Amino acid sequence: MDNIYLPRETRIQSIIDETHDAKTFTLSFVDQDYNRAFSFKPGQFVEASIFGIGEAPFGISSNPNRKDSFDITVRVVGKVTEAMHQLSVNDTLGIRAPLGNSFPIEESKGFDILIVAGGIGLPPLKSLIEPMLDNRNEYGKFTILYGARTALDRIHRHDLQKWGERGDVEVLQTVDHKDGNWDGHVGVVTTLFEKIDIDSQNTVAFTCGPPVMIRFVILDLLSMGFPEDRIISTLERYMKCGVGKCGHCAIGHKYVCTDGPVFSYKQIKRLPEK
Ligand SMILES: Cc1cc2nc3c(=O)[nH]c(=O)nc-3n(C[C@H](O)[C@H](O)[C@H](O)COP(=O)(O)OP(=O)(O)OC[C@H]3O[C@@H](n4cnc5c(N)ncnc54)[C@H](O)[C@@H]3O)c2cc1C
Ligand code: FES
Repeated sequence: MDNIYLPRETRIQSIIDETHDAKTFTLSFVDQDYNRAFSFKPGQFVEASIFGIGEAPFGISSNPNRKDSFDITVRVVGKVTEAMHQLSVNDTLGIRAPLGNSFPIEESKGFDILIVAGGIGLPPLKSLIEPMLDNRNEYGKFTILYGARTALDRIHRHDLQKWGERGDVEVLQTVDHKDGNWDGHVGVVTTLFEKIDIDSQNTVAFTCGPPVMIRFVILDLLSMGFPEDRIISTLERYMKCGVGKCGHCAIGHKYVCTDGPVFSYKQIKRLPEK
């Protein structure tokens, strides 16, 4: 049996500078048989490690239908993420994956889809948006709302533009503070709700972003009449093992690493306040 704590070596295939403090790494497992067999579901995450520095969790940001490689998008905040940003193409990175549960993509078929993302919350949702758009006719109206601190802090800018140009997806973006040439909307992401027409009884909403954003998004969705089990969010907690053994990520009787990171509001509201 595989050792669940043992990272597997991946090689960095490419690196994209998303913003001044965020990069997307495309990774492939060095063991080619393992690489060919590797698969994941939208919303699952990895534990990425650098020998001698440490290990940290990141949502997978690429389309699960893409084979041979996968992406993680990493914002610098501390020692592991700083060390990752020093890496170059062809360097190696330890990965344990796939971890955690996933977004309910099958259960959302037939519904309108509302995606509400903030900052570095877009990458995990991108692993859901792309396979849904591969099968666009299986979903109703498709709306993506994205908020970032400034225009230059927007992650996956080219993907947002590409999705908006399809004609069958409404993409609205906003920034907290205007900078550079930004002539779009200014205000927190929830101010975009005024601009869209949503049938709350026939829509599944997915949200990921800073905890304060998620809190206000959920409050607004509830006031719009969304059923509690059709508001889907991710929770972020400090993690160590990532596999339900150490208890670091526990909220009450739930482990965010194995019961989550994806939860419906119906499940979240039963958890103790933290
Ligand atoms: C399931 C999951 C998915 C994630 N997906 C992504 C992703 O796609 N992209 C991304 O950039 N980040 C993501 N994160 C956050 C990422 O794991 C942390 O930024 C990372 O662990 C920081 O490691 P570090 O060693 O660089 O920072 P450290 O040196 O450990 O800490 C630096 C600072 O960040 C704070 N911090 C560290 N971890 C967390 C955390 N989990 N929650 C709140 N504050 C924290 C610390 O308190 C400290 O202030 C995710 C976290 C989880 C749990
Ligand atoms: S991180 Fe160890 S139990 Fe979740």
